[in-house]
Amino acid sequence: MAYERKNIENMAAYIPGEQIDSPGILKLNTNENPYPPSPKVAAALGKCDVARLRQYPPPTARSLQESIAARHGLSPDNVIVTNGGDELLRMTIATFADSNDSIAVARPTYTLYQVLAAAHGCKLTNFELNEDWTHPEHYADLLNKSGAKVCFLVNPHAPSGTLTALEQIALLAAEFQGVLLLDEAYIDFVDPAISYQSERLLEEFDNVLILRTFSKGYSLAGLRMAYGLGNPAVISPLMKTKDSYNTDLISQSLARAAIEDQEYASETWKNVRSERQVVTAALREMGCVVPESQSNFVLATMPAGTSAEKIYLALKDQGILVRYFSTEERLENKLRITIGTPQDNKRLLSAMSALQEMS
Ligand SMILES: Cc1ncc(COP(=O)(O)O)c(C=O)c1O
Repeated sequence: MAYERKNIENMAAYIPGEQIDSPGILKLNTNENPYPPSPKVAAALGKCDVARLRQYPPPTARSLQESIAARHGLSPDNVIVTNGGDELLRMTIATFADSNDSIAVARPTYTLYQVLAAAHGCKLTNFELNEDWTHPEHYADLLNKSGAKVCFLVNPHAPSGTLTALEQIALLAAEFQGVLLLDEAYIDFVDPAISYQSERLLEEFDNVLILRTFSKGYSLAGLRMAYGLGNPAVISPLMKTKDSYNTDLISQSLARAAIEDQEYASETWKNVRSERQVVTAALREMGCVVPESQSNFVLATMPAGTSAEKIYLALKDQGILVRYFSTEERLENKLRITIGTPQDNKRLLSAMSALQEMS
């Protein structure tokens, strides 16, 4: 007997990257930060008062909202704290789209968008990214013609790691008639010389909702904390649809410790950036095509005659996990590889180069 709604019956579940947690496994498949969270997070955990758990947590995570607002030069009213970025994505669909409305994405992209749209009974309108991962020409016109209520745009792009310039996003925000969710899950790893400050978009556009997460930049994927930034036109409706206490007291306090220790977090970002260069250069040396990534992963197209799937499986046999997307035709000969510590990357690169010599 099937009890679920028809669209749930017909949809496929999200397939997360493998989460194998055993000694010796090198996890370069789900874009976690290879460094531990700030020591101030551990100190905050030590100070957590268990007796306080008797009461409900602050419903909007007020102290954390204030710390986030201060970090971005915004007001707390511009901030909504969520239980991971994925919760914000789900809330965005539930708040701004009716079932049967269209949600737009440019593929390939984060596959959860499709799952969340299907769960809500929405249509997913797919546009194809250009060969160089840029958006189609006249993208705003295409979006408006499709009638999309929400557009998800991930920047830096996943899975290629490439960055769309802020000027282009501003043009899109100006023309698009729906809510533009700018998914900046990986933004912390962008070279600071690029000076990408999307908060500036909020001065002009009330249809922009920026997603940020503690999972990647702050090494807290296990905590499930993230936030949205936007004007009241998007934040106020989200506040209505969120669960009454969507984030817990301990997570609020740990996330606050993390965001207030910018010095520590930015040191991890710097290390990832410098290792990204090392990994990119080494993979290119092996004949892979690797676009310039501004993220904490790279997307490598395997050299002609080499199978990405075989390399993925051979690496897995050696306890090294990278991401192979078997369902996306355009990613068939590619592997997405998370940047690890220098030691992690050496292990990956020597395994890959040995495999290449054998093939
Ligand atoms: C593109 C993108 N957006 C959003 C998320 C959500 O991150 P989280 O729910 O851990 O905050 C992820 C996680 O991998 C992602 O890759």
